[in-house]
Amino acid sequence: MKSQRDAQEGVYFYDYNLHENDQQQEILQGLTQSPKRISAKYFYDQTGSELFEAITQLDEYYPTRTEIQLLNDYRQHIIKQAGENAVLIEYGSGASTKIRLLLDALKPKAYVPLDISKDFLFDSAIELRQQFPWLEIHATCLDYRQPATLPKGLSPRAKKVAFFPGSSLGNFAPEDALSFLKGVRSTVGNNGALLIGVDLVKSTQTLNAAYNDAKGVTAQFNLNILSHLNQLGQGNFNVDHFEHHAFFNEEKSRIEMHLISKYDQVVSLFGERLSFKKDESIVTEYSYKFEPEAFAQFVQHAGFESEHCWSDDKNNFALFWLQAK
Ligand code: AVI
Repeated sequence: MKSQRDAQEGVYFYDYNLHENDQQQEILQGLTQSPKRISAKYFYDQTGSELFEAITQLDEYYPTRTEIQLLNDYRQHIIKQAGENAVLIEYGSGASTKIRLLLDALKPKAYVPLDISKDFLFDSAIELRQQFPWLEIHATCLDYRQPATLPKGLSPRAKKVAFFPGSSLGNFAPEDALSFLKGVRSTVGNNGALLIGVDLVKSTQTLNAAYNDAKGVTAQFNLNILSHLNQLGQGNFNVDHFEHHAFFNEEKSRIEMHLISKYDQVVSLFGERLSFKKDESIVTEYSYKFEPEAFAQFVQHAGFESEHCWSDDKNNFALFWLQAK
């Protein structure tokens, strides 16, 4: 662990990110397997995090506004479940936008935002502290898919409430989703809970539109992953030589995002030469969509009980309150 910045009053920074050599190995392995893959976590450099924030504002991308509506509508229920003085741990906190809706009422003992995008995370933490000057913040940079090490000295006896909004669980393969939830369960302990946002199965047309927006922001977000790899591995991907492709795979109940090579081409990355055939695809993201009943059953395998499921009138999205059992 290396601390990247000096603590500011009430804001503490921790960096547990992967070592550069591990990143290189992971990226090259993904791009030499068949089908080729790039982990979705590489979307989130500074530009990618900003593009994702832009996606959340799009007309077609219903999850964010629906979840915000649910957080507003069910705020009192959530506060009753969580109680005051909890340690609040947010997985994939981004700009910490949604948690702001709850902070004044929840009055947590501490807030622990976890995110992979270091500068974005640290800047958001400083901005958040300006808005909530009483809030103790432990901004922790890590890939939250790995088992999370929480900063030491975080009120060990306080109730721990995890927050995982945005249906980011859908970006895990089912077996990884289960081990992630088990990890959260062990982090929050016997008395803890998880408030999680879950995107629900709906019409293919609505889903396809959400990942193929008219302004092309999702396409830019998808292609930006190649620019990020160029920076990490002194690469020469030409983003104009690839195309965004996203569709709902009904059988697997998931959106699939791909980058399709427009030509036969060779790209250099980390000093290696990587070949792509015309029309060959790189999988960049899966985004699973859930049925509420099946989800409630699924979380039991991780040691949670679904105590509440709050959803909108169109059943587009749901917030689940999962209690450790
Ligand atoms: C972060 N995650 C939940 C988003 C999703 O919908 O799967 C990422 C995203 N990809 C394209 N648009 C948004």
